Amino acid sequence: MLTVSGLTTEFRARGGRFTAIEDIGFEVPQGIAVGLVGETGSGKSVTIRSILGLLPPPGRVVAGHAEFDGLDLCRATRPQLRSVRGRRIGFVAQNPFGSLNPVLSIEKQFANVVRAHRGMSRSAVRELALERLASVHVRGPERVLRGYAHELSGGMAQRVVIALAMLHDPPLVIADEPTTALDVTVQRQILDLIAAQVAAGNRSLLLVTHDLAVVAQYCQQVVVMRAGHVVESGPVADVFGAPEHPYTKQLLAAVPPAPWSLASSLHEAGVDR
Ligand SMILES: Nc1ncnc2c1ncn2[C@@H]1O[C@H](COP(=O)(O)OP(=O)(O)OP(=O)(O)O)[C@@H](O)[C@H]1O
Ligand SMILES: [Mg+2]
Repeated sequence: MLTVSGLTTEFRARGGRFTAIEDIGFEVPQGIAVGLVGETGSGKSVTIRSILGLLPPPGRVVAGHAEFDGLDLCRATRPQLRSVRGRRIGFVAQNPFGSLNPVLSIEKQFANVVRAHRGMSRSAVRELALERLASVHVRGPERVLRGYAHELSGGMAQRVVIALAMLHDPPLVIADEPTTALDVTVQRQILDLIAAQVAAGNRSLLLVTHDLAVVAQYCQQVVVMRAGHVVESGPVADVFGAPEHPYTKQLLAAVPPAPWSLASSLHEAGVDR
């Protein structure tokens, strides 16, 4: 579904260049959830943004490929990327308020996403938006549609972002720490919601998180990053059950003890360490 190889991204500024990620390679197979983990600054977001063509300047992909739908996203044109992001890859970022437009009503934002990719009447857009808001369990969807992002709680705003990201039924969903900006009490609900939407459409998921228990619960495969490199990857049961790289061992050792921990998630997944 998505094949990343040799991906290398630099930030260039006056006086030098900084290689944020180097020679990154992994696959997200059809219908599989892949967790991308690593400590802060390891290059998870730069990897995702390199794939999606959303690197902030002065970031630049200097080598490698991200093959998706027969297209190398690293060499795609802006219109091609925009089309892929809207229709084929649903992206959920960390901060929902950064994804929503503060000066447009939620209804207008649904209309913009729909119209960018297919023609539809205003009432048809409204009906579709209401149906999708209901599917992500947004309470009072009529009122939400008339309103603006700032009137929503963080959890509700992220539900709206998820509904927008799923609007065109994309076969691949990429979520970059989709819950870290949210209240702890709603984090699991949002992850459950993403997992349910992914499972319902037999989609693939690339989930960035620094929480190994989340990977154990929601993903079948894991890619471990450190300092801009992939240090280990494979099925969750193999990597967490018998980690090969010292860094992965260290990450696993840092997980707090049961009952809320990785150990219990792994046990539920049928892995005993
Ligand atoms: N706009 C930028 N300009 C310069 N350097 C950047 C920029 N964005 C990221 N970097 C650098 O690239 C490296 C990787 O950052 P990245 O944001 O991908 O980390 P991350 O793994 O997503 O961390 P976190 O878990 O904190 O989100 C870091 O050293 C960071 O300082
Ligand atoms: Mg990040």
